[in-house]
Amino acid sequence: MTVGGAVPATEDRLDVERLRADFPILSRQVNGRPLAYLDSAATSQKPTAVLDAIVEYYRTSNANVHRSVHRLAAEATDAFERSRERVAAFVDCDPRGLVFVRNTTEALNLVASSYARQLLEPGDRVLLTLMEHHSNLVPWQLAAERAGLRLAFLGVTEEGLLDLSRLDELLAPPTRLLAVTHQSNVLGTINDLAALVREAHRRGVLVCADGAQAVPHMPVSLRELGVDLYAFSGHKMGGPMGVGALWARPELLERMPPFLGGGEMIARVELESSTWAEIPHKFEAGTPDVASAVGLAAACDYLDAVGRERIHAHERGLVRHLLDVLDEAGATVYGPRDVAVHGGAVSFNVGDVHPHDAGTVLDRMGIAVRAGHHCCQPLMRHLGVPATTRASVYLYTTHEEIDRLGEAVTEVRRIFRV
Ligand code: ALA
Repeated sequence: MTVGGAVPATEDRLDVERLRADFPILSRQVNGRPLAYLDSAATSQKPTAVLDAIVEYYRTSNANVHRSVHRLAAEATDAFERSRERVAAFVDCDPRGLVFVRNTTEALNLVASSYARQLLEPGDRVLLTLMEHHSNLVPWQLAAERAGLRLAFLGVTEEGLLDLSRLDELLAPPTRLLAVTHQSNVLGTINDLAALVREAHRRGVLVCADGAQAVPHMPVSLRELGVDLYAFSGHKMGGPMGVGALWARPELLERMPPFLGGGEMIARVELESSTWAEIPHKFEAGTPDVASAVGLAAACDYLDAVGRERIHAHERGLVRHLLDVLDEAGATVYGPRDVAVHGGAVSFNVGDVHPHDAGTVLDRMGIAVRAGHHCCQPLMRHLGVPATTRASVYLYTTHEEIDRLGEAVTEVRRIFRV
């Protein structure tokens, strides 16, 4: 069966060569070499099915949603609300709790601002971890300052796993919320979110998770995880930039005050005060990015047609290969060695070569990686480095591209004599 133009897998393996034809950008040459795109953790490439869905929406149904009574407005509203249901089904959650936002950062800012204002009190503690992206750290710093909250942190072990040795103590009062990444964007570590949720709930602590690096790469059921709030971005999962989702238990969303005020999010407006629309619309002020929501729903169709278990298995094989190739090329690799808990992002350094220099050499060889602190400065300090080079894979990544990375790392060592 083919849905949304996706190439189905043969038995348990992905037919990566055929599937790559769905991603027009992958046929590009860069610096005279075929592009090896190893930066999918920063943003994924987009299949034709997604690009077509966006163009089709603008060509046939574009209008503003929830506002007018004419035919196009009804079609646009219908497309937007169907997209909400599709995205909610993709992560197995109640669509009433699914708020469309721009990206994970906006979702986490919404939570830190709105949740902290209504559901936390001065002196309450929010437990974070040392492997959080700045987007699940800085909003909490701002909220702590505004609302008089305290912050505490779970550490990271030598193996690049969460250090749970103080979990019991740190989940005790006054901790009210655990905000944790499902998968580290630097170390690739897949955290056992279901277990963390169980531990937290046992102590009456709620859990907000950053799923930006998890949802694109593996089956995720928010119902089974039991998590209370969860954020992810469309652009890392084959969807367009500019749309993402916050899911929260409807009863929490009911109690949280609006994040942004304006059109769409109100029920009745007086000069001095207003009442709010029903959830999730209470959190969707202004004209939404309808076309991107439609594109995200198409990405969900595409990934499901390929098969998320297969994508995850393919990536596990790629990560094993990456770790071997980087070891062989003499790179220093950060993060877990066990591919069962290692998602598709691998950070490394080549001697003391600055990652920007290594990244530039790789780019000349047609290989796209990310070099920098990856929005995780505290984690970089913990690792004792200013930055790392990061290779990240997705369903369209081939083993041959990983081999090319290995050769390029050897070239970096030759050029810089390390
Ligand atoms: N958060 C994205 C990354 O890790 C941008 O690259």
